[in-house]
Amino acid sequence: MAAQIPDTTRAVFHNPQEDSLTLITRPPPTPNLAADEHLLRVHTTAPCAGELTWWTFGIPKPPTDHIPGQDVAGTIVLAPPTSPFQPGAAVYARIPWTRQGAAQEYTIVLGSEIAPTPKTLDFAHAATVPMSALTAWQMVFDKAGFAGPEDGAISGRSLVVTAASGSVGMWCVQLARVAGFERIVGTYGGDAEAGELLRELGATELVDYKKSSLAEWASQDPGRRKVDLVADCFGKGALADAWSVVKDGGRVVSVCEPPETRRPADCQAKNVTYEWFIMDAARGKDLARVTELLESGKCRAILDSVYKFDDFKQAFERVEGRHARGKVVIQVLQ
Ligand SMILES: NC(=O)c1ccc[n+]([C@@H]2O[C@H](COP(=O)([O-])OP(=O)(O)OC[C@H]3O[C@@H](n4cnc5c(N)ncnc54)[C@H](OP(=O)(O)O)[C@@H]3O)[C@@H](O)[C@H]2O)c1
Repeated sequence: MAAQIPDTTRAVFHNPQEDSLTLITRPPPTPNLAADEHLLRVHTTAPCAGELTWWTFGIPKPPTDHIPGQDVAGTIVLAPPTSPFQPGAAVYARIPWTRQGAAQEYTIVLGSEIAPTPKTLDFAHAATVPMSALTAWQMVFDKAGFAGPEDGAISGRSLVVTAASGSVGMWCVQLARVAGFERIVGTYGGDAEAGELLRELGATELVDYKKSSLAEWASQDPGRRKVDLVADCFGKGALADAWSVVKDGGRVVSVCEPPETRRPADCQAKNVTYEWFIMDAARGKDLARVTELLESGKCRAILDSVYKFDDFKQAFERVEGRHARGKVVIQVLQ
């Protein structure tokens, strides 16, 4: 097997201090098989909005060189002998942002992070899934206090998803529909196709953030429009606005900012709990459940566009424009 691995491989290096992205050649990474590390031939990766700036949070200290790309789909090349994922297996995973990512020809993933790629998806579509679906899974279930999509306590509940037309937002909507939330309210920028897509995915109500704030929308019928859960996928003004639609005793979860920092001083909601979080590391088991939802047709992978490896900078630019409709994928293996 080792003979098939080249001596030098291509990788995108990100220097957080200079905020530069550079294509370089380097030896492939060497997995520590005893530590559950698998070597993966990367077929596709997908940048995450904002990932190049996450180092500015300050913890952990940024490296001088980092390989981005937390989503990966590819083929196992080297594996621990007892691993269920042996050479040749097609798998996908989300690699934590603090490790070297998948904008390179070979990368390392842990067995606990991996799931088989859905039989219904090619590698481009597979790379759209792990980061967004797993983040949404945590927002809508774990961080909202639900055991998973089958939790009976979800029946009759309502939620607002900010930036519902984004990649994480669309997964929040899909998972909420699968789990049986009664009302699924999504904010989006008013694009007609995006609205249609969100309705297909499960949104029951849409609010065009360019025309109306959630505060204005809720004030038209506060008895009915307030929700149990806010799943914030944008932060800033969208998060501040979302505080106006949460019921007393409700919950605000954000993947962008600590919700309390955006709570308006005049917010009337009582006993609201809140949390900001960054995705946990090993989520292969949840990803396997997402695979089932995709293979059964209950959820969809949403692909915005595919860029060649050489065009990686354009892929990052498209993501950072913050209006991609689904994930932007980099085809690493041509
Ligand atoms: N904490 C974590 O572990 C974690 C994990 C994953 C992602 N994230 C973060 O979650 C956020 C969303 O990620 P993503 O992949 O879903 O990003 P994305 O796909 O790029 O989302 C873009 C969305 O933002 C919406 N948007 C743009 N401007 C807006 C505004 N002024 N107000 C409200 N919405 C606006 C867009 O709506 P329209 O196009 O309809 O206008 C679009 O739907 C990012 O900040 C990312 O860093 C955090």
